[in-house]
Amino acid sequence: MDTTGHSLKRRNQQEEKLLPQIDREKLPQHIAIIMDGNGRWAERRGLKRVDGHRAGIKAVREVVEAAANLGIKILTLYAFSVENWKRPLKEVKTLMSLLRKYIKKETPTLLSNNIKLSVLGRMEGLPGEVQRDLRWALEATHHCTGLLFNIALNYGGRTELIDAFRKIWQQLEKGKETTLTIDEELIANNLYTAGQPDPDLLIRTSGEMRLSNFLLWQIAYSELWVTETLWPDFSRKELYEAIISYQKRERRFGGV
Ligand code: IPE
Ligand code: IPE
Ligand code: MG
Repeated sequence: MDTTGHSLKRRNQQEEKLLPQIDREKLPQHIAIIMDGNGRWAERRGLKRVDGHRAGIKAVREVVEAAANLGIKILTLYAFSVENWKRPLKEVKTLMSLLRKYIKKETPTLLSNNIKLSVLGRMEGLPGEVQRDLRWALEATHHCTGLLFNIALNYGGRTELIDAFRKIWQQLEKGKETTLTIDEELIANNLYTAGQPDPDLLIRTSGEMRLSNFLLWQIAYSELWVTETLWPDFSRKELYEAIISYQKRERRFGGV
């Protein structure tokens, strides 16, 4: 990333120009982001992939803060997929340790900004110490009423559906319910995102035109915005651009 004073100043100017273009009355309620391109960002600089992940933290911080300041209700960041365990062990370990560092360092900031943390995914499949740190942060921010910050960890869209069907099955087995009407509401209420509105806007960085098993049920009618920008370079500027583009779209939901 070019961090010279000159380019920073230019970026700030760009952000200042974009911000007034956002219609505060038509904000997306829920923004979901597939944070991609950390590895390529590092490779292009002759660095190691893990350096890209390290650089990506800054973008996370910036986007969470910007979303909270704008008054977005829900921000969901895809941080680690169920498929990401296929990566070299060293990379996985670094990702887990960066996650722990992020949580320890950022939880006080989340708290002071009234941001509530939530985890989407099979938390029980994460290393014990990661779970412990997450539980601590979840508890600490539980009462917060501002931005809901969902972090998707050990997350898969298909896994989420499997878990939902299992939960529904258990309700029947335990006799909690004797009859169940299988409808959209029942399925939605048993997803990790139960009670949350679906994403209005789905952002993916690094130019890939795919969903990579993210929120398969919830994004049925989300507006998509893909940028070539690699995740560590993602800033307020791109977030504002995505929102402005979203606000120009006509959402029809199958109607006319
Ligand atoms: C996204 O960056 C971060 C995670 C998936 C954890 P990548 O690591 O996928 O970066 P690329 O796609 O290889 O560039
Ligand atoms: C998607 O990125 C997963 C996360 C951002 C956590 P990947 O880099 O894992 O996805 P693919 O492999 O390009 O589809
Ligand atoms: Mg990737």
